[in-house]
Amino acid sequence: MEGNIKLMREDGLRLDGRSLNEMRPIKIQTGVVERADGSAFIEWGANKIIVAVYVREAYPKHAQNIDRAIVKARYNMSGYSVEERKRPGPDRRTMEISKVVSEALSSAIVLEKLPRAEIDVFIQVLEADAGTRIASLTASSVAVADAGVPMRDLVVGCTAGKADGKIVLDLSKDEDNFGQADIPMAILPRTGKVVLLQLDGDVTEEEFNEATSMMMDAMPRISELQRNALMSKYSIEDGE
Ligand code: CDP
Repeated sequence: MEGNIKLMREDGLRLDGRSLNEMRPIKIQTGVVERADGSAFIEWGANKIIVAVYVREAYPKHAQNIDRAIVKARYNMSGYSVEERKRPGPDRRTMEISKVVSEALSSAIVLEKLPRAEIDVFIQVLEADAGTRIASLTASSVAVADAGVPMRDLVVGCTAGKADGKIVLDLSKDEDNFGQADIPMAILPRTGKVVLLQLDGDVTEEEFNEATSMMMDAMPRISELQRNALMSKYSIEDGE
């Protein structure tokens, strides 16, 4: 991350015209993959991500947990989802994202209700524009709920960071590339438990607190979009 590129306009707004605590637009849809047990599509700014969830008995048998389910999220970027073609196959970054998403989802799922099961969460990034791990996790949580998997809560996430020395919500690609810090965070909103928190860059304690409180303020709005996505699918089906 470089600190010397101008990311704020003279009028105090960000390069894309947003205010410091303004999110990009988000749209979430469920039931988008017919053969999956659950699925979701999220558009978060220019990010486009599809998630398909399959619940089955873990195989081979020795990989099963006799008293609870295993959650395996696999984050994958399409080759042309980014400016410079992404080489196919897993790399350190995609393995890391798969791991943190799996762990965050595991905190929300009532794993003991599905002994011996494996919950496969396939995440396909069709277009990436900063914040894909959080958008993936937010959509995955909806897709898992859509699969009917028992959950304590819907994991919801958001990113904040530092650009041109200012704390900003939901980093754009430029802010992510040229800003001074990137802080993705996800919580279980019912209890406020933090299930993902990463920090790339440098912030003071005061800036960190400002970033987390900005994210906490934004979480309820994203949670509402998640719930609406699930409710609109079921209300349409029920009404027909
Ligand atoms: O996507 P997220 O912000 O969670 O993770 P990141 O590692 O901070 O990546 C930031 C952004 O860099 C991604 O959202 C992509 O837009 C971009 N990227 C890329 O252009 N090429 C890659 N191979 C990986 C990421």
